[in-house]
Amino acid sequence: MADDLNDVTDEDEVSESSEALIAVHWRDEGYYPPPPSFVAQANASDPAIREQFTEDKFPDSFTAYADLLTWYKPWDTVLDTSEAPFWKWFVGGELNVSYNCVDRHLADKANKAALIWVPEPENEAHQAITYRELYVRVNEFAAVLKSLGLKAGDRITFHMPMVPELPVAMLAAARLGIVHSQVFAGFSGTAAGHRIADSGSTVLVTVDGYYRSGELLDHKVKADEAVEAAAKEGQQVDKVLVFRRYPGQYSAATPMVEGRDVFVDDLLAAHKGEIVEPVALKATDPLFLMYTSGTTGRPKGCQHSTGGYLSYVAGTSKFYQDIHPDDTYWCMADIGWITGHSYIVYGPLALGTTSVLYEGTPNYPDAGRPWRIAKQLGVNIFHTSPTAIRMLRKVGPDEPAKYDYHFKHMTTVGEPIEPEVWRWYYESVGKGEAVIVDTWWQTETGGFLGSTLPGIDPAKPGSCGPAALGILPVILDEDANEVPAGSGKAGNIVIRNPWPGVFQTIWGQPERFVSTYYAKYNKDPKSTDWHDWPYFAGDGATEAADGYFRILGRVDDVINVAGHRLGTKELESVALTVNEVAEAAAVPVVDDVRGRVVEMYVSLKPGFAPSAEIEAKVRDAIVTDIGKIARPKNIWIVPDMPKTRSGKIMRRVIAATSNFTDTGDITTLANPEIVEKIRQQVQSAKHAKGEVPRELSETELNEIKSFGAE
Ligand code: WTA
Repeated sequence: MADDLNDVTDEDEVSESSEALIAVHWRDEGYYPPPPSFVAQANASDPAIREQFTEDKFPDSFTAYADLLTWYKPWDTVLDTSEAPFWKWFVGGELNVSYNCVDRHLADKANKAALIWVPEPENEAHQAITYRELYVRVNEFAAVLKSLGLKAGDRITFHMPMVPELPVAMLAAARLGIVHSQVFAGFSGTAAGHRIADSGSTVLVTVDGYYRSGELLDHKVKADEAVEAAAKEGQQVDKVLVFRRYPGQYSAATPMVEGRDVFVDDLLAAHKGEIVEPVALKATDPLFLMYTSGTTGRPKGCQHSTGGYLSYVAGTSKFYQDIHPDDTYWCMADIGWITGHSYIVYGPLALGTTSVLYEGTPNYPDAGRPWRIAKQLGVNIFHTSPTAIRMLRKVGPDEPAKYDYHFKHMTTVGEPIEPEVWRWYYESVGKGEAVIVDTWWQTETGGFLGSTLPGIDPAKPGSCGPAALGILPVILDEDANEVPAGSGKAGNIVIRNPWPGVFQTIWGQPERFVSTYYAKYNKDPKSTDWHDWPYFAGDGATEAADGYFRILGRVDDVINVAGHRLGTKELESVALTVNEVAEAAAVPVVDDVRGRVVEMYVSLKPGFAPSAEIEAKVRDAIVTDIGKIARPKNIWIVPDMPKTRSGKIMRRVIAATSNFTDTGDITTLANPEIVEKIRQQVQSAKHAKGEVPRELSETELNEIKSFGAE
């Protein structure tokens, strides 16, 4: 494999900025057409649907998605580009998201389950929440929020795990136009605090505890840390609303703070049966913020709209998730990520289906758990990530066969999936009966950008498939030349046109929004013509002759750990808060289950000697500031970093060391002698720990080789 690579790229001749242009050999993995039984019932089974979304019909084509919703007032303008690239969809239209996901289903689905919540302990019964009950709970919680003086346009932060109170809280906020910012529960209190401060929230909603891998975690303690971290940045939190995992009984060891912390069940008692009219909001009003990592230390609050976003997730849920009202749909992602927002809560509920929520870890208490849940609840649409698939395959390859469940449709999302892992998903989990969609998209994009239409297109393992309906992607090189389909060359995947689900801005950082996503290929910053503003996704990709895209991974300094984006700068700036640390560099290491894990290299200030204690300090700082998901696999305290003459740390060199790959050309380094020293230190320690690497694929080799190039 390494030989093939040498044939196609001569590193010496490639400038750093054009390293995204890497030739990639395409091994055709064969096509998997949908079974006729699937096609017969599919929401999209006629290829003519594509003709409704061709470029000449843009942007009006997307009214087909908006028409899936109930509007108080129809829009006047489908797409307003006057403040490009701050796109405005369905301008003049008014609607309410909570009304669309709840109220409008009462007429014919009041007693159907909207949500089924599965607690992690298997001795606790699952809870089905009907649309009527959801309506009651959303209204009562909206009444609570209103009583606190919150109103449209205010921000509220949720730091909630996978409990039904989270979608209730989201829908209650949406009912009033309060902009919610849900922070993944696995993030630390400090990380939540940074996001509270950035969004300017005065209210935090949390729970006392929840189950993970058999343990009832104290989650309330993180609220205290969050409030403190936010205060340090000048943001005061007035109220912390604490839902109780077991109503009436407090499950956390951390005390409540007098005057600030309140039990939600106590507050709800005063609002029993109260109805709060949904507020008619503008289509362009913000619905929520979702923070994601980028190339600086400050996370980006991606702001999503009310009308465009809901239209896009409803439309894509219908055609790509193939959701019908009678399906039982289970997305095993966490609502704390964009996947959960779009494809557990908003898309499925807008379509009036039954959406399953699972509290715990997939392999608890054993690797049969997901399949028992699927059987018990009659799940027929299943949605998860490559990391979860790899893990379930590793610990229980034969488990799916033991359970009598039947999926018609499965999704994989968030990371590239190895064809071999794809085939286990298809054959063992899907039992050869289910179609698979590999959906490529991002926090910023609101919904799918690349995927097969499951009732029409055959799947091809390792490829997300063609562009989603109405999406016009192209692969460009660094000089904005088009990389043609079938050329076998990789480049930057770019979307030429706006779409309704695209985020509106980065909260509080409009310049960063333009510079990160649109400046790269824009030639006229004054233009109000959308053709001049291609969206730069930050992913490398190839397009095969059949028009299927294969996503290779990030081209920026972002590491995708188990499908979660971690910015290297974010990790490094935390390491630098440790007093002894002079320099820090984070690099990805290929991992058989989590896709990538982080390794951290640090060098110390003069006068300090390497020690296990300093290592622990760095590790603790990262866990405290970001969360356990960012915990580095190894921390290497090295005598010096490999640096260019201008003093820039050459991350690709240490990434190669950690991955046992070729360090490439090091003649441009100011201190080339350090490379061999580090290599010996790191690789002998890894051998001693039994961290012996497998042979990397070409895609993986390319990623390591160009890591940190930008
Ligand atoms: C990666 C998750 C390969 C990609 C929805 C993207 C994928 C980043 C796929 C966004 C896929 C997402 N195949 N890679 N099907 N889907 N990615 O914001 O690098 O958490 O830029 O959104 O995940 O991650 P995010």
